[in-house]
Amino acid sequence: MDERKALLEVQHLRKYFPIKSGMFRTEYVQAVEDVTFTLYAGETLGIVGESGCGKSTLGRSILRLHEPTSGKVIYDGTVIYDGEKKTQISMLPYRKRMQIIFQDPSASLDPRMTVGEIVGEALSVHRPDLKGKAYRARINELLETVGLNSEHSNRFPHEFSGGQQQRVGIARALAAEPEFIVCDEPISALDVSIQSQVVNMLEDLQKERSLTYLFIAHDISVVRHISNRIGVMYLGQMVELAESYELCSAPLHPYTQSLLSAVPLPDPDKTRARQRTILEGDVPSPLHPPTGCRFHTRCPYATEECAKSAPEWKEHRPGHFASCHKL
Ligand SMILES: Nc1ncnc2c1ncn2[C@@H]1O[C@H](COP(=O)(O)OP(=O)(O)OP(=O)(O)O)[C@@H](O)[C@H]1O
Ligand SMILES: [Mg+2]
Repeated sequence: MDERKALLEVQHLRKYFPIKSGMFRTEYVQAVEDVTFTLYAGETLGIVGESGCGKSTLGRSILRLHEPTSGKVIYDGTVIYDGEKKTQISMLPYRKRMQIIFQDPSASLDPRMTVGEIVGEALSVHRPDLKGKAYRARINELLETVGLNSEHSNRFPHEFSGGQQQRVGIARALAAEPEFIVCDEPISALDVSIQSQVVNMLEDLQKERSLTYLFIAHDISVVRHISNRIGVMYLGQMVELAESYELCSAPLHPYTQSLLSAVPLPDPDKTRARQRTILEGDVPSPLHPPTGCRFHTRCPYATEECAKSAPEWKEHRPGHFASCHKL
């Protein structure tokens, strides 16, 4: 029996966006296709993959900021989305427990509101009991938690640097006292010099508050040190998932192998000596994904079978999942 507590179970999740193509025709962007994984309480699961592979859509669909197309999402033992059920399940009791930090801090903060109002708005939704002095004190406390102070409260987002704006975004997420946070590329819009400050802060907050993170990044080197496990996405699908060290040292899927071969090693001689797997061609469109294995058009090992049938998502070693016909 697995002793870890499953906080979130995602089963066969799909999210298709309808797109009008002509007067009467609708086509679908298959942004997330049949994704299954479990997130354990207190862990950080890194999600990596190229731009457009569906990472943000996956995070948002789990929180039902995008209504999924089909599949199932179970949060702390309760079904919060079931594509088979006709009746909608209310997310209200879960909104407080599940939060998100957005990719672009400047776009995610209302420019007409002061920082105090932005954090206060989130606070009053989740703590309507707090009024007057106690309410203001809590806002200041949240700002201090993320390395800002009470004087920042009356300023507007444009008066802050990117790193400070992201801190405001984090304070807003923390206002609800969540258990689970989707961190959607929280540092990719920031200066390299402040990226590690924000990552360190997120790690400290996780320890202090026993938070569980789904940490999205497009670069595997960003998440490998902070994630307990890493999931790799390609064209809407999860292609591999394993404990971080194992995924980085013994990747099974050819796509993960190619991603890792592009990460520089600490020793430049080793980097030069290493064989690089360079993928040919562009990522196909999620409007018309390839048949069979979605990666077959770029895979150096693809055979006829790969073009015909989709490989199964299987556990190949304990805790190490991948979908590839060659395994
Ligand atoms: N609201 C939408 N309507 C239509 N298509 C969408 C919508 N949102 C996302 N998509 C499409 O779904 C696919 C996945 O997008 P998504 O934003 O999830 O990718 P991502 O992995 O987060 O990329 P990035 O690293 O650039 O943030 C893309 O092809 C995108 O164009
Ligand atoms: Mg994204």
